[in-house]
Formats: sequence, C-alpha cells, structure tokens
Amino acid sequence: MKKNVIVTGARRGLGLAICQRLAAEGYKVLAVARSDSPELNALCDGERVCFEAFDLANTDKMHTWVGELTKRHGRIYGLVNNAAIGVDGVLTTMHELDIAQSLLVNLQSPIVLTKYVSRSMLLGGEGRIINISSIIASTGFSGLSVYAATKAGLIGFTKSLSRELGKAGITVNCVAPGYMESDMTKGIAPDKLLSIKRRSPSGKLASVESVAVSVAFLLGEGGNMINGTTVTVDAGSTA
Ligand SMILES: NC(=O)c1ccc[n+]([C@@H]2O[C@H](COP(=O)([O-])OP(=O)(O)OC[C@H]3O[C@@H](n4cnc5c(N)ncnc54)[C@H](OP(=O)(O)O)[C@@H]3O)[C@@H](O)[C@H]2O)c1
Repeated sequence: MKKNVIVTGARRGLGLAICQRLAAEGYKVLAVARSDSPELNALCDGERVCFEAFDLANTDKMHTWVGELTKRHGRIYGLVNNAAIGVDGVLTTMHELDIAQSLLVNLQSPIVLTKYVSRSMLLGGEGRIINISSIIASTGFSGLSVYAATKAGLIGFTKSLSRELGKAGITVNCVAPGYMESDMTKGIAPDKLLSIKRRSPSGKLASVESVAVSVAFLLGEGGNMINGTTVTVDAGSTA
C-alpha cells in the first residue's frame, strides 16, 4: 500500500515540485493549498496525488480537518511543512498585521499541524516530518528579519521535537534551501540576484527540483538515521 504524505503549499513552487517528485517515487501525496492551480490540477489523479483545500492560517480548524483527512486516506506516514509567506521589508516600517501573519503561517501553523499529524504517526509507530526552513535562518539578509525569525524557529522546533518523537520511530528534520526561483523570490532586485549567484561556488543556484530530491531522500530509506538536523541545499552559497 502507498504511504500517505501531506505536502503543504502544494499549489506552486517548491511544494508543487515536492508533490511531483513524491508521486513519481510511489507515495500517495495529499497536496494542501488554499486553491489549486492548472499545474497541481494536472497532477491530481485521486490515486497518486489528491488535492486537499485548506487555509493553513486556520489553526483552530486543524484538529477536525486532520481527523477528516485520516478518515478518508488512512494513517499518515509523512508531513512536509512547506507552505510559507515571504513578507519582506524593514522591521521599523513593517505593519504589525504582517508580522502576526508571518508568525502564524510560517511558524504556528506548522507546529499545530505537526501536533495533530504526529498522533497518526505515533499510532503507526513510524513517521517522517520535514520542515522547510531557509538559509536565512542562520545568515543575515536585510529586510527579512521577521521571515528569518520564523525559519529559525522551525529549526529549534525540529531539534527538540526529534528528541520527543525519536523513540516512537518518527524522525523530524529541516531542509534549508538557498535562493530558488519561485513566486516568492520574483520581486528580488537584479543586482541582489547577481550577488547571490556570485556567492555560489558553481555560479548556480538550487532549483525547486533539487530541493525536492532532498526531501524525498529524507522520507525514504536514506533518511532512516537522520534525525533532528538541517539539510542545507544551497549549491554551496553559504560555504
Ligand atoms: N524561494 C526561495 O528562494 C526559498 C528559499 C529558502 C526557503 N524557501 C522556503 O521554501 C518554501 C516554499 O517556497 P516557494 O518559493 O515555493 O514559495 P511560493 O512560490 O510563494 O509558494 C508558497 C506556497 O505556500 C502556500 N501558502 C501560503 N500561505 C498559505 C496558507 N495560509 N494556506 C495554505 N497554503 C498557503 C501558497 O499557496 P497560495 O497560492 O494559496 O498562497 C503556495 O502554494 C517556503 O517554506 C519558503 O519559506 C524558499
């Protein structure tokens, strides 16, 4: 029987690439997004990939929603907390509502979702949780302080949770991508992009596909003994 993996933020970008990769590797992907896209729609066949509409900002509805998901699809093996919003701007002028929304969607929401999904994993005696962080969690970038706080928060969450769940056969890890071309980064200034590219030893940047492969590795047999750590996929930019 196929193993169920929840992927959040599946509509586009990295989330969509993860869904494509996991479906090709034989998982049953529960692709979560507020609404679907033509690309996600093309992937959803009800067998390998199922679209599950949910606004992850609704943490108060998560308990019931996860219960319904497991009733319909069965036990959950993997959870990829990928959805995030990239609010940028200097802190002094950032609106408090944007700060609150970033903390909610990027940090509180994956924590609450993990709380409920891990119960299903505990019953099965195995599971894989992968939180998508960022290299910005450990390197500075002007204009991304709030985003960085959420991504660093995920790393702290991952480390301690791996200690809680490890004895039950569940691993918890982060994947920290470097800059990838996606909707989140399309507004970046050309000169900034050039300097990011120059920092990479190969002159190349990680693609969403290359990060998706690392996520698949952690979900598979290769990830058996990897727990509580962060896998950086940035083409060497932070070396
Ligand atoms: N791009 C980069 O360079 C980069 C670098 C390091 C780390 N990352 C991380 O990689 C992950 C994916 O980034 P990306 O570049 O693929 O971003 P993206 O293109 O902006 O996609 C983000 C996804 O999250 C979903 N999402 C946002 N808010 C949501 C909500 N309230 N409920 C449900 N879904 C929601 C979006 O769906 P909607 O269409 O519904 O908004 C979208 O599918 C993020 O965690 C990001 O922080 C990205």
